[in-house]
Amino acid sequence: MTLTVRGLDLPDFPWDSLAPYKARAVAHPGGIVDLSVGTPVDPTPEVVRRALAEAADAPGYPLTVGTTDVRQAVVEWFERRRGVAGLTVDCVLPTIGSKELVAWLPTLLGLGSGDVVGIPAVAYPTYDIGARIAGAASVVAQSLTSLGPLTASTTPKLLWINSPGNPNGQVLGVGHLRKVVQWARQHGVVVASDECYAELDWREGQFGTSTPSILHPDVSGGDHTGLLAVYSLSKQSNLAGYRAAFVAGDPAIVRTILEVRKHAGMIMPTPVQHAMAVALRDDTHVQAQRTAYARRREQLLAAVTRAGLRVDHSEAGLYLWATREEDCWATVSDLADRGILVAPGAFYGAAGARHVRIALTATDERIAAACERL
Ligand SMILES: Cc1ncc(COP(=O)(O)O)c(C=O)c1O
Repeated sequence: MTLTVRGLDLPDFPWDSLAPYKARAVAHPGGIVDLSVGTPVDPTPEVVRRALAEAADAPGYPLTVGTTDVRQAVVEWFERRRGVAGLTVDCVLPTIGSKELVAWLPTLLGLGSGDVVGIPAVAYPTYDIGARIAGAASVVAQSLTSLGPLTASTTPKLLWINSPGNPNGQVLGVGHLRKVVQWARQHGVVVASDECYAELDWREGQFGTSTPSILHPDVSGGDHTGLLAVYSLSKQSNLAGYRAAFVAGDPAIVRTILEVRKHAGMIMPTPVQHAMAVALRDDTHVQAQRTAYARRREQLLAAVTRAGLRVDHSEAGLYLWATREEDCWATVSDLADRGILVAPGAFYGAAGARHVRIALTATDERIAAACERL
């Protein structure tokens, strides 16, 4: 059944179809190990909680554009953590988590019927939902050549890329990103790069422990025209409950988005703006969180591999993208019988039909239980 609102076709919420498998996993004598969603389980860092409390007296309306302080914190973070210099506060906008921005960006950019949004072959489902909300269509643009010969009506107006990727943990290198930018410029396409796992890269790379950004000078040539980077503190700082995220890049696009958001009341609460500024300036808690996930990943990766699954990509982010070369629902079913709930790859597109996504977001105790059962 699809929900139809004003001619809008929204699919069933995919997680509802996992319910029978969840019931089986819950029945395991040792209890369920739920690795089906990427929701953080570790405490929100003390430094951020304190910042939230400091800003709790907030009788007046916040500005949609955000305080200068929070936007300056984003500018500094890009320079310090991502090697992106030259941004100003006019290039930055706070968002109420990044899911809402992903879901509304096509609408905020004025896309509608007849327009096309490019999305990855296996992708966070909200990229497609955002196209649908705008009345546009989404098309898989795994490689730019996969789009085939382009005409005015088949060229995407907006291209989503996601690195590190959800669900598959793939990191797009500088060379790949540069080609995407060159192609987008040739065709007048806006590129939105969802980088919400950028601080959770398990390799030592060019940028230390952080993933290359679309805004990096080696990618963009120092020109951010037509480019947006989307980032969230949900994962790096255990702030999913705060709804703390931002978009940054081309100041002209940011201004357009801001104008619509002002009218629509899409405003980050004042205490969250302050908490986000403080979180962005504190690298210590991010390092501690990264260490915790690295440990869980190492244990789970070894156990999953020992159990006969092959893990593809997964070089960054919070998931293992694993396959037993069978239909994903068969793997989901088998793991549910062992009390472990994972997400079927089919949730992320037809290309994921033979993989499952195994999240690292569980306590050390639950990860140990999963390893034992595997
Ligand atoms: C790729 C990707 N983008 C965006 C989000 C949304 O994050 P949030 O709304 O918590 O900022 C998620 C959450 O899992 C995600 O995996």
